[in-house]
Amino acid sequence: MKKTLALVLALVMALALVACGGKTEKKKTALDQIKESGVLTIATSPDFSPMEFVDSSKSGQEQYVGFDISLAKYIAEYLGVTLEIQAMGFDACQTAVFTGSVPMSLSGYSWMAERAENYELSDYYYAGDNETEQVLLVRADDAEKYTSAEDFAGVKVGAQNASLQMSLVTDQLSDAEAVTIGDIGVGVLELQSGNIDALAVAKGNGEQIIANNPDLVMCTWEFEVSEEFEANVIMITKGETELLEVVNQALAEAKEKGYYAEWYEQALADAAKETAIDVTLD
Ligand code: ARG
Repeated sequence: MKKTLALVLALVMALALVACGGKTEKKKTALDQIKESGVLTIATSPDFSPMEFVDSSKSGQEQYVGFDISLAKYIAEYLGVTLEIQAMGFDACQTAVFTGSVPMSLSGYSWMAERAENYELSDYYYAGDNETEQVLLVRADDAEKYTSAEDFAGVKVGAQNASLQMSLVTDQLSDAEAVTIGDIGVGVLELQSGNIDALAVAKGNGEQIIANNPDLVMCTWEFEVSEEFEANVIMITKGETELLEVVNQALAEAKEKGYYAEWYEQALADAAKETAIDVTLD
């Protein structure tokens, strides 16, 4: 009897030890991992000049340019680590952050209630005037055809998958036929070939597209844009609040030092280069 009791006690203690051992192994935060590996990996969809695009005269990591890339470099520097840019489709960027395969993404994200629920979103950062207005691109020949929201009833209007622009189309042009586009470059081709009749884009991005595609114009009708959409935020995996905190500190420092205007100007200059391209990854 005594022996059995001793055995049971020993077993209980062993089990308790195992349980405790499990508990002391605290899950590493994304910030711990970044610091330990010395690398900050970010996802971006380089189809959105002047925020993120490709300079085709360069290769490797150097090819990625734009405002968000300057900002990402700054954040990596702030953390004292090197930056690794993973280019992928806009939709894939968000999935990667959601599942935690990358800790964060800079890709010209607007603040959206749905995103705030599923991700940690940084404080706002200045995005020039890229997103202060949201517009529709149409073929130059159709310029006269579309002057009011009603004119889009039954019309195929494209917007990038999982984007602010897609929600603007479904909210404000509910009679239109919303068409999901993977990458913005594909949307431009679809518009030119007549598969869609309008493409919803941020105005700054639209200006870049028109500069390279003189057969397209901006529609006189524009979306109504509430103030919260005018600046951008960084998307971080839900629960990674330590990373969020340092990212916000880095943003505050960059703003205070006046870098935003400098980066935006540089991005516009880079976007004007012959070798600037918006890359399609979907
Ligand atoms: N600001 C818009 C959004 O959050 C568009 C961003 C598109 N970015 C890109 N890299 N394609 O949905």
